[in-house]
Amino acid sequence: MKRLAGKTALITGAARGIGRAFAQAYVREGARVAIADIDFARARKTAAEIGENALAVELDVTRQSSIDAGIAETIDALGGIDILINNAAIFTAAPIVEIERKDFARAFDINVSGTLFTMQAVARHMVERGKGGTIINMASQAGRRGEPLVAVYCATKAAVISLTQSAGLNLIKHGINVNAIAPGVVDGEHWDGVDAIFAKYENKAPGQKKNEVGDGVPFGRMGVPEDLTGMAVFLATDEARYIVAQCFNVDGGQWMS
Ligand SMILES: NC(=O)c1ccc[n+]([C@@H]2O[C@H](COP(=O)([O-])OP(=O)(O)OC[C@H]3O[C@@H](n4cnc5c(N)ncnc54)[C@H](O)[C@@H]3O)[C@@H](O)[C@H]2O)c1
Repeated sequence: MKRLAGKTALITGAARGIGRAFAQAYVREGARVAIADIDFARARKTAAEIGENALAVELDVTRQSSIDAGIAETIDALGGIDILINNAAIFTAAPIVEIERKDFARAFDINVSGTLFTMQAVARHMVERGKGGTIINMASQAGRRGEPLVAVYCATKAAVISLTQSAGLNLIKHGINVNAIAPGVVDGEHWDGVDAIFAKYENKAPGQKKNEVGDGVPFGRMGVPEDLTGMAVFLATDEARYIVAQCFNVDGGQWMS
């Protein structure tokens, strides 16, 4: 029995990386999925690779008109939205004395405002529809504690955890269940970029930071996107209905809470 049979999902930032793996896993479990990304060409390629139950949608989480249009297009194509994964985000790093306002504003715009206002728009649809729903926000172990070079990204992910708690408490009366997932270090294009930033600030060879963080994971290696899919599927099933406003670490044992 497929665990998400008959369900529909919208996943932001699903053109690549973890969001792509979520879309694949959801389709495998019987859902129909909107792959919503600012990179529409890549979203179309990903949707074509996943198959007929994946739909590419152009959606920029920083623009309300784009959020509204992407959601309307998804509802039109799939008949409604049962599950939202707020996955789109960017990484940024700099020492405190070098942080620029424009980088701070961009990271908060995508990671925090993007999460809140996509969540709000989908929650309005779910309330109006009266069938409840599941919302999963992508946090990070970075949201659990600070890091010397990662103040802004860490702060955005702490905000995502906080928003998840408040939204979870506010929306559960509508049968809308909001939780978060906090990954640790997950290899892919995102971490290629992180590695390059650390190479610059910590004077490391390319790939060195990745090796170091991988060695530091109790499980023994960096994560891969597929390590996250079990939690994302479970949280969207009815078996998770009594789990409200929580943030789950899926990080190979890096953070305990
Ligand atoms: N990779 C990791 O180690 C790691 C660790 C902890 C948390 N996370 C979180 O997991 C999520 C996915 O990470 P990933 O590694 O797959 O990232 P990624 O960079 O590979 O993918 C992010 C996707 O978001 C899209 N995106 C960026 N700006 C957007 C916007 N304004 N509107 C819509 N889409 C936009 C990008 O086009 C891209 O497809 C993120 O929230 C990230 O912060 C990742």
